[in-house]
Amino acid sequence: MSSPAFPPAYDEKKGELPQPGAQAPVQKRTRCMGRGLVKGLVAVLALLTCLHSLHIVNLHSCWVSHNAASDVSADLCPQASVVVPQKNGELWKSLGKTYDSDAFKARAVEWLGGAVRVPTQSYDKMGPIGEDPRWEVFPPFHDYLLKAFPLVHSTLELTKVNTHGLVYVWKGSDASLKPLLLAAHQDVVPVNPDTVDKWAHPPFSGHFDGERIWGRGSSDDKSGLIGIMSSIESLLESGFQPTRGVVLAFGFDEEGAQSIGKYLLETYGENAFLLLVDEGGGFANQFGGVVAIPAIAEKGYIDVRVEVTSPGGHSSVPPSHTTIGILSQLLVHFESHPYEASLNRGTPMYLYSQCLAAHTPDLPHKLRKALKKADKSDRALKEAQKELFKSKPFHAMVGTTQAIDLIEGGVKTNALPERAWAVVNHRIATDSSVDAAKEHDTALLKSLAQDFNLSYTAFGEQLTGKDAPAYGTLTISDAWDTALEPAPISPVDAPEYALLSGTIKATYNSYRELEGNDNIIVAPGIMSGNTDTRYYWALTPHIYRYNHANSGNGTALDHGVHTINEYINADTFYEMIRFFTTLILNADEFSA
Ligand SMILES: *[C@@H]1O[C@H](CO)[C@@H](O)[C@H](O)[C@H]1NC(C)=O
Ligand SMILES: [Zn+2]
Repeated sequence: MSSPAFPPAYDEKKGELPQPGAQAPVQKRTRCMGRGLVKGLVAVLALLTCLHSLHIVNLHSCWVSHNAASDVSADLCPQASVVVPQKNGELWKSLGKTYDSDAFKARAVEWLGGAVRVPTQSYDKMGPIGEDPRWEVFPPFHDYLLKAFPLVHSTLELTKVNTHGLVYVWKGSDASLKPLLLAAHQDVVPVNPDTVDKWAHPPFSGHFDGERIWGRGSSDDKSGLIGIMSSIESLLESGFQPTRGVVLAFGFDEEGAQSIGKYLLETYGENAFLLLVDEGGGFANQFGGVVAIPAIAEKGYIDVRVEVTSPGGHSSVPPSHTTIGILSQLLVHFESHPYEASLNRGTPMYLYSQCLAAHTPDLPHKLRKALKKADKSDRALKEAQKELFKSKPFHAMVGTTQAIDLIEGGVKTNALPERAWAVVNHRIATDSSVDAAKEHDTALLKSLAQDFNLSYTAFGEQLTGKDAPAYGTLTISDAWDTALEPAPISPVDAPEYALLSGTIKATYNSYRELEGNDNIIVAPGIMSGNTDTRYYWALTPHIYRYNHANSGNGTALDHGVHTINEYINADTFYEMIRFFTTLILNADEFSA
């Protein structure tokens, strides 16, 4: 499960929230390119945090700007036009007015606050459903939804998948049209009991202070789930009947999403949906522009377990290296040989950079120049990469990363450790693969295995002579068999992407009473963590991790998604409801 990429954020230093309707403040052109760039990208690449620490980054996009700096060149990143409902134009406008009313806002706050007040924490390593009592948090949440959204429940067909997974089907009048698929997750990151007293408002209070809604799940991901439900309840109240079907998929943990994916595939078949929107990116101020960043890809994943064994014995007669000593050297070797990252043409991160070059007025001149030439010139591409990689988050998003996150070894000070192990977590570049990561790690440790006289097995393959005498063993493996390939990349030249882009622009404009195509740029991004969509790949090639959360100048990390004091700005939530409403209406009228 994961959480939005660009949730609401605020400037921590100032402690001020960006005003919802406010235009991105135009920053002064940066004098020092390196620092300015790093700052800008950190903001843009809002790291998505969620149960699985989703890190999202943005990528490409562009629109024709009339007031941007003269060296902006839109053709690097063509922008879709605003898309507003036509057939349902009046309904959309009148719903917009409803959404602006104080009465509706109070209702929206209550809808989300109420959902936060039903804790739905899910933990690692839970026992089976029906046995582990911790699953029993979900039925009360379902009861809440039933009470809060009566029209949704009397109109849509609800199927419970794997006990707690929720699939709602809103049938369209034209069954030949591929339905729209909207996803969110019901579960929330557990609250560490030791930190409860550090919350400004109790973690399951759903407290509204007039500006923000507080509590675990307020942002990740009940804002998405309740945003969708609020939209549909409101559409139903206004009498809307869809032509195109709408399907909602609300998972409750990894297994939940997996079973929902299987159910949808069996029920609808492959490539049966128009497009899929799940939690993920939002929009933020970047280099003097406002940039929306739907994630069109996710990095791959593998946890590599590195295990060293050797004969035990009493520590009074120790060998020069114990398993712990050897493991330490292997880990040092990992860290001194990070994966090389390279910004390759056509990758989402490359497209994202191109969009910044095309549409943001304050991108450092030198970088813009390099990016403009990068399509044709390898030298320019390297130059752009060098500048972009000055931002550590950007660098991390482009390449395969490694982080040693677990270690264990030894039982007693007078006994030699017979076994020591560690787990290295990798997030695999969108243009790489699980196999490439395995090969990389296998090769990396080869010489050390030899130096320490260890028999070496990597991912099931014995690499040293079976019978050759060895002091001990080195085994590397997929720690829990959870390796995941990078997600298929959703195409940005597809009409579905234009539909999403136009919807983002329409939402942004209508919320602020703006006109024109260029108030917000749409640039593709990626996530470094994984959403439920990893179980939905077969359902549609058009998967967007995006929920239109306003990040202002900040990132997801600013608003407590993983830690204490999670909140969402109420204005951000209202705008999310408008986004889902506009998406449903636009998709209803869409024809490719
Ligand atoms: C490796 O260890 C084994 C067992 O202790 C020993 O027989 C062998 O000679 C060692 N090989 C090397 C190259 O040190
Ligand atoms: Zn999440």
